[in-house]
Amino acid sequence: MTDYFPGFGNHVATEAVPGALPEGRNSPQRPAYGLYAEQLSGTAFTAPRAENRRSWLYRMRPSAEHPAFTPYQGAPLFTAPLMSGPVAPNRQRWSPLPGPDAPVDLIDSLVTMLGNGNPEILDGVAVHCYAADKDMDRRVFMDADGELLFIPQEGRLSLLTEMGRIDIAPGQIAIVPRGVRFRALLPDGNARGYLTENYGSLFRLPDLGPIGANGLANPRDFETPMAWYEDRDEPFELVQKYLGSLWTMTLDHSPLDVVAWHGNLAPCRYDLAKFNTIGTVSYDHPDPSIFTVLTSPSAVPGRANADFVIFPPRWMVAEDTFRPPWFHRNIMSEAMGLIHGAYDAKAEGFQPGGLSLHNLMAGHGPDKPSWEAASNADLAPHKIENTIAFMVESCWPYRPTGYAMEHAQSDYDAAWADFPKAVLP
Ligand SMILES: [Fe+2]
Repeated sequence: MTDYFPGFGNHVATEAVPGALPEGRNSPQRPAYGLYAEQLSGTAFTAPRAENRRSWLYRMRPSAEHPAFTPYQGAPLFTAPLMSGPVAPNRQRWSPLPGPDAPVDLIDSLVTMLGNGNPEILDGVAVHCYAADKDMDRRVFMDADGELLFIPQEGRLSLLTEMGRIDIAPGQIAIVPRGVRFRALLPDGNARGYLTENYGSLFRLPDLGPIGANGLANPRDFETPMAWYEDRDEPFELVQKYLGSLWTMTLDHSPLDVVAWHGNLAPCRYDLAKFNTIGTVSYDHPDPSIFTVLTSPSAVPGRANADFVIFPPRWMVAEDTFRPPWFHRNIMSEAMGLIHGAYDAKAEGFQPGGLSLHNLMAGHGPDKPSWEAASNADLAPHKIENTIAFMVESCWPYRPTGYAMEHAQSDYDAAWADFPKAVLP
């Protein structure tokens, strides 16, 4: 049983053993029980106070005590984005990954589908998919390249992190900050979903502007776990992602040995069902930015490195309006996934666990059956239920990986074929 603190990015103080957390200072001469004090920073020391994120960890051994890393041979499809070569301006769509052929844990099952930017310049975002059926036992992962956003689609995850245990099920998400070590257990025996890797600035709640002080994802609904640790003196492999490649080394103990911590850089979880969805009560379909759960700003105001956006159950009441998403060509690039149900602009072909890409200036919108249905629908109040889709929208166009290009659906353009020509007077 794990307890959680409510709130997003709050300063938290927590100890799994009474007396483990120093009082009144971060780095006492001799921490209690011989623990080692370690600062983990998620922003530069000199980041403005409102954006500054860091935590102090009190652990059984310093994380500096480890042998050299060597190249990791597993997870062959968990890669860096391609940094060069042409990218076709085509719309792309993918069916869900096949299940694993042989038992595989979450890390080894990761398949990089889309990416942009570059972890070496701390900008960009990647979208990976996983389909795993094995717990990470005596194996721990750490991503130096970015912050991880887990989006389960099938099967629960138990994320045992340095800073606490997080349990999530499909419909919930979890954030693990850059550098925080964790291992993933699969309580249902298998799990499938999406992993967003944010190389850029930390995800935060979007500004609300005229919406006011409340709405969209409310801070109190994010949950940060209390301190938890495991005291296991046995070999543990630590796999690290670093500048796009994977590295490994073996410790003689579990590195999940943080007994107490305090600060405002920590993993958290959020139940998407708690999202306060805001939409029109008159006419027209608002821009999808109204559905933003989390945003990673770029250096340009209002232009996100990555927005995590959801399309949750909601009432549709607009009068004299084509209610699904309209046709559009955007400067922002869109990677979309489906957690369950059917997305209102694509009646077919976009399956739960699947993925689609509408990059910079790609024309897209409802497919023909969805357009026909919505153009002729009775505009009585109607509730879209039993579905949740999401989008990772980025100001940088995505580059699909070689695996993604080999496994894309071949007929996606047909979603927009044979629309009738307008008839002029
Ligand atoms: Fe779109």
